[in-house]
Amino acid sequence: MRIPLDRRSGTPLYRQIEGWLRAAILDGGLSDATRLPSSRALASELGVSRITVANAYVELEADGLIITREGSGTFVAAPLPTSVADSDDDGREWPLWQRELPSAPVSPATRGPGDAPHPDRISFTGVGDPRLFPLREFARTITEVLRQDGIVALEYGPFDRGHPPLLDTVARVLTSQGIHARPEQVLITAGSQQAIALACQVLLAPGDSVIVEQPTYNFAVDLFRNLRLKVVGVPVDASGMRVELVESLLQQHHPRLVYTVPNFQNPTGTCLSTPRRRHLLELCSRYNVPILEDDFAGDLRFEGRAQPAIKALDHTGQVIYAGTFSKLLMPGLRLGYLLADGPVLDQLALHKRVHDLTTSPLMQRVVHRYVTIGRYQSHLRRTIRVCRARRDTMLAALREHLPDATVTPPHGGLFVWLELPAPASARMLLTFAGKSGVDFAPGDLFFADPADGDRFLRLNFATHTADDIIRGIERLAVALHHAQDDAATAASTAPP
Ligand SMILES: Cc1ncc(COP(=O)(O)O)c(C=O)c1O
Repeated sequence: MRIPLDRRSGTPLYRQIEGWLRAAILDGGLSDATRLPSSRALASELGVSRITVANAYVELEADGLIITREGSGTFVAAPLPTSVADSDDDGREWPLWQRELPSAPVSPATRGPGDAPHPDRISFTGVGDPRLFPLREFARTITEVLRQDGIVALEYGPFDRGHPPLLDTVARVLTSQGIHARPEQVLITAGSQQAIALACQVLLAPGDSVIVEQPTYNFAVDLFRNLRLKVVGVPVDASGMRVELVESLLQQHHPRLVYTVPNFQNPTGTCLSTPRRRHLLELCSRYNVPILEDDFAGDLRFEGRAQPAIKALDHTGQVIYAGTFSKLLMPGLRLGYLLADGPVLDQLALHKRVHDLTTSPLMQRVVHRYVTIGRYQSHLRRTIRVCRARRDTMLAALREHLPDATVTPPHGGLFVWLELPAPASARMLLTFAGKSGVDFAPGDLFFADPADGDRFLRLNFATHTADDIIRGIERLAVALHHAQDDAATAASTAPP
């Protein structure tokens, strides 16, 4: 890295190095996740003392432009949200109140410099396969609703818990899944993301703690950060959250909520065992802590027996259950639901009403008309058949091409969670993967402390055909070789 230094200038050398790197980062010459040389290597290259480079790095790190990961090196950090910029691209200055907006805490960017467009990128970051969406039937249903219901479908409708016939549909779908649900317990939401947000807004205040699986769903982590909640992680093993560790955390942190994804957890794909479900419910009842059960893909089971929903075991109103039409139908519907008992249901409904009045009345009518139990079940069977085959293809490809990676085969859902062989880091791999034309979700997105996720990555097996899955995994293996070579080179040039 040839940084021009002016030794006669009054500006200290560390400031010159810092200034040069800062400019390179801000104008994109050094894109996020780029690995910087070690302070020793850069010092010897520039002919300055190591402390000079270290001081420059300290300044950059304090401003959030770079990040040092113990044992992995120093990297360009993901950019801050644009709300902290003082001006737009044309140099027009924002009003003072805009410049003073606090930047919202969010997780590191999903992608690294591998973003350079690859002509035929295979992305394992998504959640489902849009080619499986029932497009034609759905278009027909929209027309039918508009023809039959007319302008009523385009009005606000009552600002209530949802379109009553859809509340019935949701209750029937849930009952078919073993949860005795009544329409009066259901609140329709704009996706289950809104359901999670509503539960947090009603139950928690900034500074409160929430217990979660570690790792957990990345946009829940973002939401918790955004609401300034303290995230307390409980490790996950092959049987889901290690509930035996929860009691001491309840005593230590006095959380106001336990958030769990008990089926085919995002990102690990694990399921919480039935004894652990019962234990968690018993603990939370004893310690008076609500459970938010996020069942985003519980129906997508390929083999084995389904465990009962925690909500199905709950007879006292301890559990708030969140579900969605996103994964089994289409995420663009933005339709999810909450199932709750007692006064909290009214609070959730009121909270939703003051925030967004109602969820699209047209979409609620269309989904009610579209989702009969028979149609839901046949769509589910088809999706399971396709996703199971794709999971098997991905697992076989991983066994063949990345034999050193550790994979826990999921029995359903959408994701494979993979631990890289040391010393590879997922962020570093992402850079090489982008160049090879493959993409994945790096593990740091799913941890409250991103550094904990450095060795992990999440692959979605549901989006691509078998051929593309195999090609994608082959590319990933090539990228891993490059990343390992790079890590070995860095280790051999690092100071003793
Ligand atoms: C675990 C989990 N919960 C909730 C959601 C939110 O989905 P939606 O808002 O589309 O229902 C997702 C989306 O991927 C998810 O993975």
